Amino acid sequence: MDYLSHIKQPILTELEAFNRMFESSLTSTNPLLNSVAEYVFRKRGKQMRPILVLLFAKLHGKVTDASLHSAVALELLHTASLLHDDVVDESMMRRGQPSVNAQFNNKVAVLSGDYLLATSLAQAAMTSNLDIISIISSLGKDLADGELLQLSNVDNQNFSEEVYFEIIKKKTAVLFISCAKAGAFSAGISDEMAKNAALIGEYIGICFQIRDDIFDYFQNFETGKPSGNDMLEGKLTLPVLHALNTTGDEEAKRIALKVKQGEASKDEISWLVEFTKNNHGIEYAISVMEDYRKQVLTLLNDYPNDEVKSAITTYLDYVIQRNK
Ligand code: IPE
Ligand code: IPE
Ligand code: MG
Ligand code: MG
Repeated sequence: MDYLSHIKQPILTELEAFNRMFESSLTSTNPLLNSVAEYVFRKRGKQMRPILVLLFAKLHGKVTDASLHSAVALELLHTASLLHDDVVDESMMRRGQPSVNAQFNNKVAVLSGDYLLATSLAQAAMTSNLDIISIISSLGKDLADGELLQLSNVDNQNFSEEVYFEIIKKKTAVLFISCAKAGAFSAGISDEMAKNAALIGEYIGICFQIRDDIFDYFQNFETGKPSGNDMLEGKLTLPVLHALNTTGDEEAKRIALKVKQGEASKDEISWLVEFTKNNHGIEYAISVMEDYRKQVLTLLNDYPNDEVKSAITTYLDYVIQRNK
């Protein structure tokens, strides 16, 4: 059985119910909005976040109506953040088709993203669970905070890994934390137990973004979005930060600063990518994910449901090893 089938095995019928609710969440009387929704739904994405919600609900009991509404809310919020992200990053491909900003335009992408965001909050309200509503409403703040932090980190001379981790926690891991917590709360657990769930979600989310950042150093993955974009945008991610900090190479630092200032040429970026690969940047990033994997396995020990535990372990293996 492949990774994804194994991951979905314990929640097959629940995932179908999710997809029905997800589709019907976006019906409107506005023709432009409907055509954007139809366009976005043409390519579903991997649905990693709703899968995590459902698995965490099952890990703590069973999938309820509140779990489904949480899953819909979180996938809508994720989709909204992608629409906005592609505008901010001026990125023209998403899920193997032109991004919404490319297919329509920036204005349509921003406004439809807002609509998805608002719809997400309406779905959160349908859980009638104050813990979940509060998780999902503060999540929107964190995501925007993370993107802004990333933006302001571009034009300084900082090569710190600490700042990198702060950014990816806010822009990516918070979403996974929220999925794990909302899933757990939707199954009716207490505050205390949610702490464990949050930590597992955080580590999975950090691995998710590190893997995504590794894609950017290679041309041959099947991500359906452009690679090589990060340095063009002035972003230095974990592999290159490690290579810079461990070698202290002056030429590499000079070029890295140009990257941050948006002044590096294509050749200089290719040089820095090669420099990173030759100085163990990719291996280092992989080893960081392995460390988080070990911590997740330890945290999962406390739970009884073996089938779901095994699906979550496979989920993490997929996150670390995926090609798309
Ligand atoms: C993309 O997330 C945004 C990141 C956090 C890197 P996904 O890779 O999960 O996007 P889809 O939903 O599968 O397209
Ligand atoms: C991912 O941002 C996080 C969000 C979408 C908020 P990136 O810009 O790193 O993600 P991709 O690579 O475009 O999916
Ligand atoms: Mg971005
Ligand atoms: Mg992007």
